[in-house]
Formats: sequence, C-alpha cells, structure tokens
Amino acid sequence: MGEEIYSGFSAKELFKEGIGMTYDDFSILDTSFTNIDRNEIVLETDLGKGIVLKTPIIAAPMDTVTSKELCIALALQGGIGCIHYNFKNPDGSPDIDKQVKEIESVKRFENGFIENPVTVSPENTIADAIQIGEKNKVGKSAIDTFPVTESGKPHGKLLGLLRKQDYSRTKHTDFKVKDRMVPLKKLIKGEWPITLHEANKLLWEEHLLFLPITDKKCNLRYLVTRSDLDKNEEYPLATKDENKRLMVLFAVETRPIAYERLEKCFKAGADGCIIDTSQGYTRYEVDMIKYIKEKYPDKLVIGGNISTPEACKGLEEEGLNSYRCGQGSGSICTTSGAIGVSRAGASGVYYCAKATKMKTIADGGIRQVGDIVKALTIGADVVILGNMLAGTEESPGNTIIDPESGLPVKIYRGMGSKEANVGEIRGYSRLPQGVSGHVKYKGSIHEWVPLIRDGIISAFHVLNCKNIKELHEKMNKGKIRFEKRTVGSLRESNVHDLLM
Ligand code: IMP
Repeated sequence: MGEEIYSGFSAKELFKEGIGMTYDDFSILDTSFTNIDRNEIVLETDLGKGIVLKTPIIAAPMDTVTSKELCIALALQGGIGCIHYNFKNPDGSPDIDKQVKEIESVKRFENGFIENPVTVSPENTIADAIQIGEKNKVGKSAIDTFPVTESGKPHGKLLGLLRKQDYSRTKHTDFKVKDRMVPLKKLIKGEWPITLHEANKLLWEEHLLFLPITDKKCNLRYLVTRSDLDKNEEYPLATKDENKRLMVLFAVETRPIAYERLEKCFKAGADGCIIDTSQGYTRYEVDMIKYIKEKYPDKLVIGGNISTPEACKGLEEEGLNSYRCGQGSGSICTTSGAIGVSRAGASGVYYCAKATKMKTIADGGIRQVGDIVKALTIGADVVILGNMLAGTEESPGNTIIDPESGLPVKIYRGMGSKEANVGEIRGYSRLPQGVSGHVKYKGSIHEWVPLIRDGIISAFHVLNCKNIKELHEKMNKGKIRFEKRTVGSLRESNVHDLLM
C-alpha cells in the first residue's frame, strides 16, 4: 500500500547491461495518463543554422533515395533531403555539376510552376505528339497539351501551344504540329517573374487551362496549369529558408574533391551538408569539419557516422553541432560482417545522445514508424531514413513488378555496394559494405509522410508529450518506461495466426 508503482525499466536500466539493443529488442509502455490533445503536439526539431524541421525526417544521401523530386516532396512535407554525391561522368569520374543542378532545382522549385514541361517541336507530327504524350503520363492520363518550342526542348524559344482541342487523334496524325498549334501571336502567356497568385488570376480572367511562362527573350521557363492549381494544396509544414525557398542538404566526402564540391554546392544555394562517410571519427573528418566551419560559418554541417560516446565527444570538441549516429545498422549494410566493427542501432543512439549536447540523428535500421518513435524517445532529435523512403514515387528509378511476389518494387542499394561503386573510397577495389536489392513501392511522399507523422503523433499522444524536448526530459527522468522483448513478444507484435 502506498508504494510507488513503476512498471518496466527506465531507459538507463534498459540499456545498462552493455548489450547491443535494436529497435526490435524493446517496447515502450503506456504508463502516462493522456491529458493533452493531438492538436497540441508539435514534432518540430531545430537542426541549427536556421534549419527547423516540422517533420523530424532527413532523407539519406543515397543514389536510390534522394533525387531532387524526393527532396522537394519531403521538404514540402516538413522534412529535408540530402542530395547524394554519386553522380558520374561517362569515364566514371565524379560529376559535381549534376549534384549542383539537383540542388538548384530544389532551390528554384515554385509550387505550381512546372519546370520541365513536356514540349514538342513545330516539325513534329501530331502522331509524334500523341506518342510523346503517351510516354509522359501524369498519373494514368497521357499528356495532351504541349508548349511548342523551336528546339522541341523544355526551355527553348516558345512558338505556340498545341492543345487537346486543336487536333483529332484520328484525322490529323500526319499533320505537322506547326499546322495545328495556336501560334505565339494568338497565345496568352505570362512573363517571368510572376507569382503563382498572378498566374492563377490570368488563367481565370482569360478562361485558360494552360499558361506558358517565358522570359523576356521568349524562352519557355515554366508551364502553369489550371488543374494543378485546382488541386494545389498549401504546404504549411514546408521547410523553407528566409527567402521562402525550399531547403536542401548535400553529401560531401572527405577526399580533396570535397573542396570544389563545397564551393559549388553552397554557391547553388544549399543550406547545409552531410559529411558522408561510414567512419566519422577520423582525422579526415576533423579536418573537413574545421574547414567547413571556418569557410562557411552560416551553413549547417552534419558529421558522422559514429556510434560511440567517445567519438561523439571527440567531434563535439572540434565544434560539430549535429551528427549521424549509426554504424552497421542500415538495412542494406554488411559492415558488421565485413569488418566486425559496428553497433546495434538503438544502443548507439541512446549512449551517444546521453553523452553529447550535439543534435543526434538516428541513422540506420529504422524500418517502421514505431522505430522512429523509439529512436526519438531514447534521445534522437531527428531520424535519417533510407529504406523507408526508397520505393516512393519520388525516389529515383522505375517501379517494376517483382516476378516472385507480383508486387511493384523499386531498387534500393547501399552506397558501399558493388553496384553503387562510389569510387576510390568504396566499390570494386574495396570489400563491399553494402548490398543492392528491392523494396516495396510505397506511393507518393505526399501520402506516405503524412501517415508517418500520424503514427508519431499517436505515440506522443499515448506518452502524453507535446514535443520532442518533453519526450527527452521524461525519458531522462525515468518517467518513460520500457520493456525488453522476447522472441515470443516480437512474434506477437507482428501479424500472427492469420491466413493472408
Ligand atoms: P536504412 O534506412 O536502414 O536503410 O539505413 C540507411 C543508412 O544506411 C544510410 O543513411 C547510411 O548511414 C547507411 N548506408 C548507406 N549505404 C550503406 C552501405 O553500403 N553500407 C553500410 N551502410 C550504408
């Protein structure tokens, strides 16, 4: 009677035995009475240097994850992407300019402006245009309206607009586009710079469905469509800089080519970088941290990868403010088998976060929304996702049907795999530390990330925490309780005894 009741363990007790714990090895108990509303919960996390994420997710710098499309979509949903550095010239040497172009596209993105519309040339036949439209579907529908440019390229000189009502798919197939298009002199167009609001007004005033936007020399810059604007949602969570542009990070190595990469990528407007190396507690990384902090003091620099308090303290002393925590836990990672030096994901996060004031970014082994919750609960400020974002509509590569399961899948590979062949540091000449495979197709980031957020918010509600800071405080005070899991409990927590 009157004894304080405590079920489970505190985080300190849970991790104290020095056993490698993964997210599967424990669960969080519902010991808090919930007296907050879901709408009071804020998932915001401040990475420093003006980068505040409303959704605590960073997309991993991997060539099967972070295209510009994914970075744009994730930033609109409140996270941030990191453009990988594995772009190559035909001779296999690194191509920094391609990475720069991806960064520029993210920074230039204006919601509602189509940057690379599907265009045709005046000399194309209507049959060609139909074929081009079929190849470039929007959702399930073929494109049927095309800006016509002199070169046939998206940013060529605008000569007209070929609309759906200008041609018959049966009678006009042999006609040239120039014979059926609305020529420039009869066309209503917008001139850049123009705001989305102004473009929208013009579309309505002029009863238009499509509005090409050109520069002063009449080169096509964007296409704005009524249907896009109709379904154009506001993105209140978007990660934006002070000029209202989306934010983006880029990956940089610790080799000498990094100096040129840093110069060009920051010039292109990137907001920060990740020093992307599997072994971050090294002289090379320290030299790079010092260089970036001195040369680009306003930019965020994320270090790593590390997984021990020793490495944390070492890098913190060099002035680092945030780091990726995780070695050997990624879903495509074979580091543990290859070199034997690694750490179970959850243990690394707990011990490192406890040892440092730096922002802890949990990286690797996060397979489901519950794992994100667990990582945040034991000390992470934000998570990096590879596997959970590969396979989205916006990740690079095509969706194919897996012949065995019949399910749609996309490729996902480790940056240390033979297939990614990053170059001198990793790849053929070195023992691979990663593999290549496929993950299930997950649909669009715009559907998937809101679901992830919903799951995290549900967990915060159960734990009666309004934000990540409160979660950490409660965890550190032993007020969040955990339980270790047996194999049986793990089996029970997944779908069981069901024919599917
Ligand atoms: P995942 O989300 O569990 O798939 O882990 C993604 C993380 O794995 C990345 O953010 C990297 O830290 C790490 N990673 C990426 N490629 C490799 C590799 O080839 N070997 C080992 N780790 C990798």
